[in-house]
Amino acid sequence: MNPDLGKLHPYPFEKLAKLKDGTTPPHDLAHIALSIGEPKHPTPGFITEAIIEHLHGLSNYPTTIGTIELRSAIAEWLDNRFHLDGNLDVRTQIIPVNGTREALFSFAQAVIDRHTDPLVVMPNPFYQIYEGAAILAGAKPYFLNCIAENNFIPDFDSVSADVWERCQLLYLCSPGNPTGAVIDKNTLIKLIELAHKHDFIIASDECYSEIYFDDQQPPVGLLEAAVAAGFNDLSHCVVFHSLSKRSNAPGLRSGFVAGDAHILKNFLRYRTYHGCAMSLQTQSASIVAWQDEKHVAYNRELYREKFIAVLEILSPVMNVSLPQASFYLWAETPIADTDFARHLFDKQNVTVLPGSFLARDTDNGNPGQNRIRMALVAPLEECIEAAYRIRNLIENL
Ligand SMILES: Cc1ncc(COP(=O)(O)O)c(C=O)c1O
Repeated sequence: MNPDLGKLHPYPFEKLAKLKDGTTPPHDLAHIALSIGEPKHPTPGFITEAIIEHLHGLSNYPTTIGTIELRSAIAEWLDNRFHLDGNLDVRTQIIPVNGTREALFSFAQAVIDRHTDPLVVMPNPFYQIYEGAAILAGAKPYFLNCIAENNFIPDFDSVSADVWERCQLLYLCSPGNPTGAVIDKNTLIKLIELAHKHDFIIASDECYSEIYFDDQQPPVGLLEAAVAAGFNDLSHCVVFHSLSKRSNAPGLRSGFVAGDAHILKNFLRYRTYHGCAMSLQTQSASIVAWQDEKHVAYNRELYREKFIAVLEILSPVMNVSLPQASFYLWAETPIADTDFARHLFDKQNVTVLPGSFLARDTDNGNPGQNRIRMALVAPLEECIEAAYRIRNLIENL
């Protein structure tokens, strides 16, 4: 077996299952899960219909690069949303992927040179795939803590030149899971300059970019920052986008990677051998999804309603506020996060994820400690009910 497999950490949900061992939640309260970041709003009918309509495509092998129609739809969306001024070449700068999870993982396998003691720099807390991808690519993860004092943005200025020199890949997650924090354009530009200077790649995971609350300020993207600063060839920059959260279609397994043509050429080569082309019916459904903004605006409306209602109930009893984007609340707990999550399940039959399960211990502590992640994915009434139960638990601690 690959010995690096043994270095992978247990997934947070394995730890959560253990944490709940021995608890006896009340039977008269239905279980409410705020723990999993799986969208629960219905997938728009026109996306499902497009799949059905194109099932006859099963008799064809799809290509790894995807159809030109899909790449064109993606390019148009990217250009409109991130003001790229036509700087994206559909022939060389977009690859469809089967959800960003597999792409974020496989990307590291394709770009890391394991023979030069590489580092992969990433936020902490973080989406667990970044760490596993780094480990299995033969690199060492290097964590940058995201704490309230820095508005949950990594303190990039504190990173030494030596670390940037060893860094081959920097994962960004903006809007962040679990914090909802958005990295601003100037910081992105500074990072692009650093990437040029120290020759590393920025992989910007932007899968929550469409779930925001201020219509006047949609989250900025890495490619947008690159073009704004005159890096029109998008070199060293790659972004990851998904239909899972934007279009409530996590089962579709559809996203894309876009950016630096040289990097994507090599990633495409890797993927050709890896054998992970997107099926033609999924491509067809993805085209109509990327072409429509109405359902995305409606989706935002549903989240907005839930955040307003839940925050009204919770903010008097705990330190919690509206994130810039994403569908998570990253709330401070009055007792240890693990104890809080266990009590909440035991007494109120509500599951949340302890923050420390999403982060690693560092010399400066575990930045997830005394926080919980609540995904407001359940229907409004359920989210409200969960908020009242959380409030009840806190008031009776
Ligand atoms: C930060 C982040 N990136 C990527 C993903 C993967 O999403 P998908 O593979 O459905 O595109 C998730 C899913 O929860 C996520 O939270």
